[in-house]
Amino acid sequence: MQTETLRWADRFPELGTGPLPTAPYTSSDYFARERGRIFSRHWLYACRTDDVEEPGSYFVRDLPHIPASIVITRAEDGRIRAFHNVCRHRGNRLADGQGRSRRLTCNYHGWTYAPDGSLVGVPDEDQFVGLDRSKCGLRPVAAETWQGFVFINLQDAPKESLEDFLGPLGRRISDFPYGDMQRVVRFRAELATNWKTAMDIGREGYHIRFVHRATVPDSHAGGDNPYAHLPYFDIIGPHAANSLGVNPNHEPSPAESFVTRFASTVIQRGDAGAGQPACLNPGGAEFWGFDAYFIFPNLGLILGPNWFNADVFIPISVDRTIWEQSFYARPPRNAGERISQEFSSVLSRDLIREDWAQVERVQSGLASGAIGEFHLSDQELLVRHAYRTIDNLVS
Ligand code: FES
Ligand SMILES: [Fe+2]
Repeated sequence: MQTETLRWADRFPELGTGPLPTAPYTSSDYFARERGRIFSRHWLYACRTDDVEEPGSYFVRDLPHIPASIVITRAEDGRIRAFHNVCRHRGNRLADGQGRSRRLTCNYHGWTYAPDGSLVGVPDEDQFVGLDRSKCGLRPVAAETWQGFVFINLQDAPKESLEDFLGPLGRRISDFPYGDMQRVVRFRAELATNWKTAMDIGREGYHIRFVHRATVPDSHAGGDNPYAHLPYFDIIGPHAANSLGVNPNHEPSPAESFVTRFASTVIQRGDAGAGQPACLNPGGAEFWGFDAYFIFPNLGLILGPNWFNADVFIPISVDRTIWEQSFYARPPRNAGERISQEFSSVLSRDLIREDWAQVERVQSGLASGAIGEFHLSDQELLVRHAYRTIDNLVS
C-alpha cells in the first residue's frame, strides 16, 4: 500500500516502481556480460595522481575479473601513463603494489623498462635474433586524469574522453579541493559478494538505523528522521548522487565532542557555509552531513566538509569483490586535528566493517535462490537506477 507521495519515483518516472529480478546479482552469465560491456569499455578509476607523485613512481591496479593487471607510472616528463603489467619477453607479471624506481625490472629474466614503457635493457641480448627493442615496449592502456583521479580504459581507442564520460557531473563537483587533501587511511577487503550488492548498500540510508545502530545510533537516523531519509537524490546519465542528512538532536559522545572542536568528522553536521566549495549540499538540506557521487560503474566519491572518501569496487567473480575505501583530509595543522582525523578513521573502519559483513549476508541469501525479486522503497531510488543502467548495457 502506498502511504505517501513517492517524491523521488515521481521525479524519475523512467525508473519505474515495480520489483526487480535478483538474477543479475547471482548469474555468472550476467557477470560475463558486465565484464564485456561495462568493465572492458568504460573509464575505471585506478588511483590518485599522488599515488604516482614523483617520476619513477608506479602503482599497480589489478582487475582480476577481466582479467588484467595495469601499472600506472609517472615518467621523467611528468606524464602519467598506464600499461599492461606484463613483460613483453614471456608474459611475466612485471610489478606489484606501488613504489618508486628508475626502472621496472622483470624478475624472470631481467628485462627492464623505463617509466614511459620503453624497453631499455635485455640481458644477454646477443642471444636473440632480430629482436627489435622499439617494438617491445610495454603495451599501453588509455589513461586520463580528472581532479587528480587517474582513470584507465581497456579499449584500444576509447569511444569517448574521460571528460565527456563524466559530463555534467565532472563539472559540477570540480570545485571541491581534492588536491589539498591527502590520504589518511585505506581500508580494503575481499568480500564474498557481488559488486552490485556491495555498492547498493551505499546508495541508500534505509539500512543505517539497523546495520549501524551500535556505531552511529542516532547521528543520522533519529529525531524527526528515524529512517534516515536522504534529503537529496540526482541522476546524471549513468552516474548518480545523493546526500545524507544528520540528526540535529544527536547527543555527541564525550570523545566526539572533544574532536569536533578541532575539525569536522565523518558524522558531524556539515558546515556548507563560508569557506566550503559551492558544490557541497546541492539539495540545500537544512541538516546536511555529506554528499555521495556514484561514478559509473564502480567508484563512490563521498564529499564532506574538508574531507572526502573514494570507494572503489573491483569485481573478481560474480560473488567475490574487492572493496577499497580511502579517506582523505587536509594535512593536520596541530595535534587536535590529527586526533580528529584518527577519530574519523576509527569510526569509518567500524562503519565499513558493518557494511562488509552485511553485504556478504545479503549475497548468501541471494545465492540460495529463495527469492526472485527485490522490493525497493522510494528511498532506494539509486539501487533502481544502477540496476537499470547496468541492465540497459548488458541485456
Ligand atoms: S618474462 Fe620478463 S624477462 Fe622473461
Ligand atoms: Fe552503511
